[in-house]
Amino acid sequence: MTKFYITTPIYYPSSKLHIGHSYTTVAADALARYHRRLGHETYFLTGTDEHGQKIERAAIAEGKTPIQFVDEIVAGIKELWSALHISYDDFIRTTEPRHKRVVQKIFRQLYDQGDIYKSSYEGWYCTPCETFWIEGKLKEGNLCPDCGRPVEWTKEESYFFRLSKYADRLLQHIEETDFIQPASRKNEMVSFIKQGLEDLCVSRSTVRWGIPVPIDERQTIYVWIDALSNYITALGWGTENDELYRKFWPADVHLVGKEIVRFHTIIWPCILMALGLPLPKKVFGHGWLLFGTQAEKMSKSKGNVVDPFVLIEKYGLDAVRYYLLREVPFGSDGTYTEDAFILRTNTDLANDLGNLLSRTTQMINKFAGGQVPEPDPATDDRVLAALAEQVVREYQEAMDRLELSTALAALWKLVDRANKYIDEQAPWALARDAAKAGQLRSVLYSLAESLRILAVALTPFLIHTPERIWEQLGLDPAQVRTLPWEEAIAWGGLQPGTTIRRGNPLFPRIETAKEETRVEPVTETAQAAAPAAPAAEPVEGVAQIEYDDFAKVDLRVAEIVEAERVPKADRLLRLQLSVGGERRQIVSGIAQYYAPEELIGKRIILVSNLKPKKLRGIESHGMLLAATAEDGSLSLVTLDKPNFPTGMRVK
Ligand code: ME8
Ligand code: MG
Repeated sequence: MTKFYITTPIYYPSSKLHIGHSYTTVAADALARYHRRLGHETYFLTGTDEHGQKIERAAIAEGKTPIQFVDEIVAGIKELWSALHISYDDFIRTTEPRHKRVVQKIFRQLYDQGDIYKSSYEGWYCTPCETFWIEGKLKEGNLCPDCGRPVEWTKEESYFFRLSKYADRLLQHIEETDFIQPASRKNEMVSFIKQGLEDLCVSRSTVRWGIPVPIDERQTIYVWIDALSNYITALGWGTENDELYRKFWPADVHLVGKEIVRFHTIIWPCILMALGLPLPKKVFGHGWLLFGTQAEKMSKSKGNVVDPFVLIEKYGLDAVRYYLLREVPFGSDGTYTEDAFILRTNTDLANDLGNLLSRTTQMINKFAGGQVPEPDPATDDRVLAALAEQVVREYQEAMDRLELSTALAALWKLVDRANKYIDEQAPWALARDAAKAGQLRSVLYSLAESLRILAVALTPFLIHTPERIWEQLGLDPAQVRTLPWEEAIAWGGLQPGTTIRRGNPLFPRIETAKEETRVEPVTETAQAAAPAAPAAEPVEGVAQIEYDDFAKVDLRVAEIVEAERVPKADRLLRLQLSVGGERRQIVSGIAQYYAPEELIGKRIILVSNLKPKKLRGIESHGMLLAATAEDGSLSLVTLDKPNFPTGMRVK
């Protein structure tokens, strides 16, 4: 059986995880899901890197003990991975005994065999990077060549690892194999090693927060030695229970950001060589997701959108995962902007994929009585069938090279072609010509079958969409991830006669901020949204307004997350709303109609740009919409689609 062991770096506990951080994990998750989908025995490891001077100082700054400090943050990191549906098999924390014991064992073994020796270190140290630097490599003004921040002069007794001893073997391995990818990173490392490798300082006497050196309790093991070892300590290497190690090591891929390729391709393989263990098959260094200008990053409205929780809440999980893996060619850097995110979601997901499903199911309903028709061999041109086969091949080849964005681009060739195919074939015209009935059936079948295959191929990337596509095609959504791959991905799997279940659009179009604030005369959308037909007679006594007047009212979808009675005011409730990731408090006179408990989770309409006002001394920032009847009863205006995202404009 093929096995696949993939790791992410273990993360520094940082409470400010942005979507850039999610990038490595979401990519690794897609690869793990792909290999699992293929039936490979897959192990996906992630975790947290909790020791070292940087954490020690950050904890002190917050008046906490280091373990208190990291415990809180690690809980938040796990929540983020769960919001992103990261399917890790194990989460290792370097503060766990199972890890610490084995790191000490590694240190002792290297010491016993003479690969670690005692000496003294005098030189520069970059605390943010936890890296030692020789003078010649520093940037002007004693700045770290990696992060540009000031380095510190340190002088201490330390233990050293004989890195230099392994340099030749390492260089040969790197030059002769595809150990480092992409190739550009390989070249960087080759020239780095050729400048000469010095022995590495592997302990600190001035840092307490870490794993003690087993032969010298006054010293703490250098945090990178501690951290890199996680890839084997998590598998139980060096313990009685090393079954996972024997099954999964060497790793198939260490997926890392480009700034830490050096640690993974120089220090880590030399440690493994010294331990006599096989090297990981591949270290892949991906690029960075950058955030526009500094100003944009700091601005409140845009700045908080790089918070992955906010982004998921606002636009949905699948849009976020799709954006991360599609937008930036894997390996290169890319720049995040909310506009690019919205454009990507609207174009690829709402328009291309969403419309393909919507058009296809609508036409099957209209022209085939709601059932997938039997293709007619005589008129089937196999245009989409042939392309689907080619696209699946390209997709698999790209996935095997870890080129996630190329794999998605391959799938969208089929999406685009299928949309074009609808325009070319004009099923509505075929439907008017009895002689074209066979061709109509072939066209409709090809479209539905393309969608079925696309959904299967999207399972590594998207969490809800593949199921929703299968559901609408009348298939069992649970099977999109479980049906054996070869069977699921092959053309022809959709049974004619299947009754489809046309549903909601896959991805509602996101209105951009510009469109939202644009004040304009009645537009097409405004007309479309207006109630149909006999709008002629205005309601008596109500003045008519221009669209411009209406457009001044900013209505938003909001979810009630907390509700409580206002003491000594029997009509008022104090409500906390979630609106596109932001919190809003309003005070509402509905206490006689709704109990606080029954309001939680309701999605309502908020007049969001109403001037704030105090009611019984409580700030109310907006107003909700409700209808009142003659008999005095009241009904909130709610949404009829569950889980419709909050923050969306209502008009
Ligand atoms: O480096 N774009 O942890 P870390 C893309 N603890 N990727 C980004 C990113 C961005 N803007 N920001 C962060 C460490 N990342 C060490 C690893 S492994 C033995 C020890 C990625 O929390 C980064 O490249 O600084 C890395 O892959 C991951 O987030 C964790 O980074
Ligand atoms: Mg980092």
